Amino acid sequence: MALLNILQYPDERLHTIAQSVTEFDDHIKTLVRDMAETMYEARGIGLAATQVNVHQRIVVMDLSEERNQLQVFINPVITFKEGDVTYEEGCLSVPGIYETVHRAERIHVQALNEHGEPFELDADGLLAICIQHELDHLAGKVFVEYLSPLKQNRIKTKLKKRIRENP
Ligand code: NI
Repeated sequence: MALLNILQYPDERLHTIAQSVTEFDDHIKTLVRDMAETMYEARGIGLAATQVNVHQRIVVMDLSEERNQLQVFINPVITFKEGDVTYEEGCLSVPGIYETVHRAERIHVQALNEHGEPFELDADGLLAICIQHELDHLAGKVFVEYLSPLKQNRIKTKLKKRIRENP
């Protein structure tokens, strides 16, 4: 297993649009394991492949208290959205920044697991928010891009300064 490097906003590579996974080989299984290890090490609840500079439609998540319920979503698609909810979101690619974002309250998702087997689920609460946040990453979108241009610029300046000071 290996820890992967997490791209930091405003890295342009976070705007890459991920491609669908077509082959469920050992390479994908290793990547999923490495992504999970990277997410646990960074104490995140979700990680999209885009964030580790792999532009394939893969997301790992674990919302459990005990950190032992890994969820893997490959080629995920949201087929239904309903309601509106706000939540103060954070992101491993935007460390130390927490901002309120609007999301759909309830969603239905279709995806494949790491073996290429299809599954679907209805989600609400934090699970629905997290899935929408991670799917945005696969589409090249970071949560701070929902904020006003002024706020985005402030965050960019802050993070660039931090990177300069701690390269
Ligand atoms: Ni994120």
